[in-house]
Amino acid sequence: MPTLRSSARLSRGQFQCQLQKRIRPFSSTSTRALSSSSPSSNSNTPPRSSTTPDYATPDPSRPTHFGFETVTEAEKIQRVAGVFTSVAESYDRMNDLMSFGWHRIWKDHFVSSLNPGFSPLTPGPDPRAPQHILDIAGGTGDIAFRMLHTAHVVNANPDVRVTISDINPAMLSVGRQRAQDQLPASQQAAITFVEANAEDLTRTKPLTSPPAPFFDASTATNRIPDASVDLYTVAFGIRNFSNIPAALREAHRVLKPGGIFACLEFSKVDKHPLFNAVYKRWSFGAIPLIGQLVAGDRDSYQYLVESIERFPSQEDFRDMIVDAGFVVGGQGYEDLTGGIAAIHKGMKPRVKAA
Ligand SMILES: C[S@@+](CC[C@H](N)C(=O)[O-])C[C@H]1O[C@@H](n2cnc3c(N)ncnc32)[C@H](O)[C@@H]1O
Repeated sequence: MPTLRSSARLSRGQFQCQLQKRIRPFSSTSTRALSSSSPSSNSNTPPRSSTTPDYATPDPSRPTHFGFETVTEAEKIQRVAGVFTSVAESYDRMNDLMSFGWHRIWKDHFVSSLNPGFSPLTPGPDPRAPQHILDIAGGTGDIAFRMLHTAHVVNANPDVRVTISDINPAMLSVGRQRAQDQLPASQQAAITFVEANAEDLTRTKPLTSPPAPFFDASTATNRIPDASVDLYTVAFGIRNFSNIPAALREAHRVLKPGGIFACLEFSKVDKHPLFNAVYKRWSFGAIPLIGQLVAGDRDSYQYLVESIERFPSQEDFRDMIVDAGFVVGGQGYEDLTGGIAAIHKGMKPRVKAA
């Protein structure tokens, strides 16, 4: 039986990844029930409840990091936008080159481990139920397309919809073109593209018409409603966010009780020192060079490897997920290829923490 970790068990006080220890210290975590925030729909301030800790509310002037540099949260958003606007057209080709195609295997495994379209807890003999999947930082669509294929084709469940959300219109534009070129009409009809900052899903910009059915027509802000999502995925996106706790808080808000947060992200290879040394040499030596030769953009790929280096360890990130109110099973993560990437999952509890 896996053990469950929850915020109620976390009385260890200050903890966090190395960076956030320096920049955004955590305080005691035991009372963070974040699911009840109900923001004003026309407010410029992201939603927060009386228990939302300050560090989980975006603050444009708060220090964070951009690769190895310290910048403000607002500046990071601008600079990350610059990176992904610059790499959008070459993004898919570069992914294959930099990872020797491994990113495809990791993504396949991530999606099959979530088995979209199949809900074993659905009452009755048929385990297929309607599902709304929100793919955050969905970029050019790799995860969303796999989700739809597994749900519609493998699990024969056409009642699964996917919303691809990303802050960057250039990445979404490549994704929309790919969807038109590669997906059957039925899957195209089940996909919605929205532009949004993962740290504030109360203000999104739908790019496809008609807008996704889950949007609350009574608000002009296209706020993704509380408890409207069955499965929240984010792949290779979260390390780029300016305020990760804010994004986790939003994930918790939009998920239904029992809904799943699932993240695929680069991680740490520290448990295998020799492999780690080879991997670091490859990352810092070859990837910026490949970026320069293939995409004519060394700086963006230098940022990419630095951002991987600065991302929290598997354990620290697991603790951030727990701190946002999710429960995790077992150790809370699964290493892929020795920890080059890792999958983290958390469930929004069906019952609010006391
Ligand atoms: C490395 S790409 C990953 C794309 C896709 N998920 C995949 O696995 O191929 C990272 C994506 O994160 C997006 N992103 C960065 N900051 C974001 C934010 N604050 N909110 C939403 N998306 C963001 C970028 O625009 C980019 O498309």
